[in-house]
This record gives sequence, C-alpha cells and structure tokens, in this order.
Amino acid sequence: MTAHLLDGNALAQKLRAGFKQKAEILAAQGVRPGLAVILVGEDPASQVYVRNKVNACAQAGFHSEKYVFAADAAPAEVFAKIAELNADPKIHGILVQLPLPRHFDAEAVLDAIAAEKDVDGFRAENVGALMQGQPCFIPCTPYGAMKFFEEAGIDLKGKEAVVVGRSNIVGKPMAMLLMHAGATVTVCHSQTRDLKAHCQRADILVAAIGRPKFITGDMVKPGAVVIDVGINRLPDGKLCGDVDFQSAKEVASFITPVPGGVGPMTITMLLANTLESAERALG
Ligand code: GUN
Repeated sequence: MTAHLLDGNALAQKLRAGFKQKAEILAAQGVRPGLAVILVGEDPASQVYVRNKVNACAQAGFHSEKYVFAADAAPAEVFAKIAELNADPKIHGILVQLPLPRHFDAEAVLDAIAAEKDVDGFRAENVGALMQGQPCFIPCTPYGAMKFFEEAGIDLKGKEAVVVGRSNIVGKPMAMLLMHAGATVTVCHSQTRDLKAHCQRADILVAAIGRPKFITGDMVKPGAVVIDVGINRLPDGKLCGDVDFQSAKEVASFITPVPGGVGPMTITMLLANTLESAERALG
C-alpha cells in the first residue's frame, strides 16, 4: 500500500488565493492586512523563515514590515519596537521569530505583544484561551496541520492521536487542537518509555521531534494518517522530516512529505491569522 500524499504546496496555494481576494476586498474598505516581523540575530534558518514570511505577505497583497536587530541588541530596544507596533493601526499582526538570543526572556517578549496582534498565539493569555477552546489565534504550525484533516475529510472524533514532541510551538497546541476535535490524545517526548508501542496505536501520528527520519515505517499503524512537522537538514544539504518517508508511506493511509507538507502551511496560516486580525480591526 502507498499512502495518499497530503500536498501542502497545493493546499497552501488554494488558501492563499482566497486570502488575496479577501485582502483586496479589505483594501477597498481602506484596510490592508499588515504583518510586522521581528528578527533578532543572524540565525540562518530564522533568516530564511523571515524572508519567506515577508515574501508571502507581498504575494497575498498584505503590507509587511521587517525589523532586524543585532544578536547582542538590548532587550529594551525590542520592547520599544513592540510597543510602537502595538500602537500602529497599519499593523494587525506582530511576530517575533524564535528562538531569541539567550539574554532575552522570550516569554516576556511574547507577552509584550498586544493580545489582538499576537498572530502566533504564543502569549500566555492566548495559550490559555486555546486551552479553554476559545483561541484568539491558533498557532500557525498546528493550525496548518489541522487544515490537512479538514481538506482530506478525515474525521478526528474518537481517533487515537499520538503527538511526538511537547514544544510550546507545536506539540502542546497540536495536542490541544486534536483533543478539541474529539481525538483521544497521547503526547510522547524524550522521556517516554516504549515510544514505538505508543506510535503503533496511533490512528493519527504527528511527528514534531526535530530528529531526522526518527519515525520509521515499523512504528506506524497500518492505515494511520502521518503528519510530519520536522524540517531537518541532512549532511548532503537535503531537507528531510522527522518521519522516514520511504518506509512510512508504505504503511500509512495519508502522509505529508518534507519539503512540501506542513512547511508551506505554517506561513499560510500566519497569513490567515493576520487577515483575521485585520477583519476584526475593521469590526
Ligand atoms: N520559530 C519556529 N517556528 C516558529 C513560529 O511558528 N513562530 C515564531 N515566531 N518563531 C518560530
């Protein structure tokens, strides 16, 4: 058996075309959706992500602004910029690219973003709102993963879902979204005993570990839906996910590739959240 491919590029393109149309309608009413992205330091991966976010805004007809600070910038400079953007009516979403340099208190920085502009959904208050099932904004990567289920008509009610990884950015919000959609959720992590046994029970398996090809075909339940959130660079320069695609696709019913799976959906849902924020601002 070979799994159906969940094509993130195709789904992203379809959704972004809709956002572009909506942005034009808003622009005609005097509001152009606006995103501000803040990057601190020179991490090459973060530079690529930030560039992709700014380009995606331009393609969708959104306004965007990019602010780059040196790796040794004083936190006060970044807080001042966030305060300025919080008060700027042209800006509907503010994103601080993570990770931040060590001398920053990342939580304090995220909490400085106005709740109604926190398009990453990372502020403590917005994390709580998501937990209560009343999200202000859904974090972009898990939101993108959820769109695959919707698109493929996969009903999550009563399903066994296993999320491998417990990060604040992916694992925890992913688990919450799956739970609210009716799945029975297990979150596995580096201290989990017998990870393989947990994975083998999963109807829905989400890999967000950050280790290349960690989930192999023998860990996948026949017919499972496999969502690979990993983006790892191999020594030969090629990208691969946290799932060993070649072996897993022989067992799964649906699978996301890397690249071209969850990756393009993350930025797409950032656009979705920025658009939603602009719509809310219009009232
Ligand atoms: N770094 C890795 N993923 C993300 C994300 O979704 N948002 C932000 N702000 N930083 C990240």
